[in-house]
Amino acid sequence: MKTVHAIGELRSQVTAWRKAGQRVAFVPTMGNLHRGHVELVRRAREIAPRVVASVFVNPLQFGPNEDFDRYPRSLPEDQAKLSDAKCDLLFAPSAREIYPHGLEQLSRITVPGLSTILCGHFRPGHFDGVATVVNLLFNVVQPDVALFGEKDYQQLLVIRRMTADLHLPIEIVGVSTQRETDGLALSSRNQYLSSEEREKAPVLFGALSQIGAELKRGRRDFAALIAQGTDQLRAARFAPQYLEIRAKDLSEPTDNTRDFVVIAAAYLGPTRLIDNLQISAV
Ligand code: PAJ
Repeated sequence: MKTVHAIGELRSQVTAWRKAGQRVAFVPTMGNLHRGHVELVRRAREIAPRVVASVFVNPLQFGPNEDFDRYPRSLPEDQAKLSDAKCDLLFAPSAREIYPHGLEQLSRITVPGLSTILCGHFRPGHFDGVATVVNLLFNVVQPDVALFGEKDYQQLLVIRRMTADLHLPIEIVGVSTQRETDGLALSSRNQYLSSEEREKAPVLFGALSQIGAELKRGRRDFAALIAQGTDQLRAARFAPQYLEIRAKDLSEPTDNTRDFVVIAAAYLGPTRLIDNLQISAV
């Protein structure tokens, strides 16, 4: 696998593949790769003959008091994992390469509505930062298909909407959440957890699963289900930001809703964890 740092190098490689009639699949990441990221690359391989991954810790999507500086960076390990997963090309640009004129006057993409609910409410500007960098990466890679994890459910919806609104000729593929055996969703941020916190961490997925099971059983007293789940989280020393039952498009559920997403963000000590569970209650 080749690693390139410059947009020019990336473009000439991808152009050569396109000229040869090869479809290109793209997996954008912020690095510190785990089995969840590797699954995206594995799926990408099944979809297209050429796979490009990117590793870029995007300053634009971090708030002023968030973990940009201490976000784990591990390029050599990431390169080894991507190479094992048979990725063809890694794009690992610097911030200067991506944002040569800085962030202040940068043109931005906003996906209204979706970007200000749930995580967007607690992380103002976050999804603008995500949409902007993903659009920029789409423009430099020009893939036929791009893969994103359902672990970041709201992000996946933001990217789907942006792609549709801007008529980008890119197919967006969602990949199911990869988990530890105890249910904890894999995340680069799990390594922030102390051993004590790591033991409690699966309670988040446990609470979502319990609500999901009740929805499947036919319960529709959402407020009571959320109160019960919130108690469960607090008992395990989580500080929930939100725990909600939503329709699949993240609107509020109605009496006719059958496809739900149970979705949450919660701090465990200093670490912010997110997770969600899709439930079809026919
Ligand atoms: P990052 O958190 O590195 O995630 C990169 C991709 O891996 C995302 O599509 C994410 O949903 C997916 N992913 C993470 N954990 C996963 C898991 N446990 N199972 C399945 N997929 C998982 O998300 C970002 O980076 C950034 O916001 C990015 C899209 C790269 C823009 O900067």
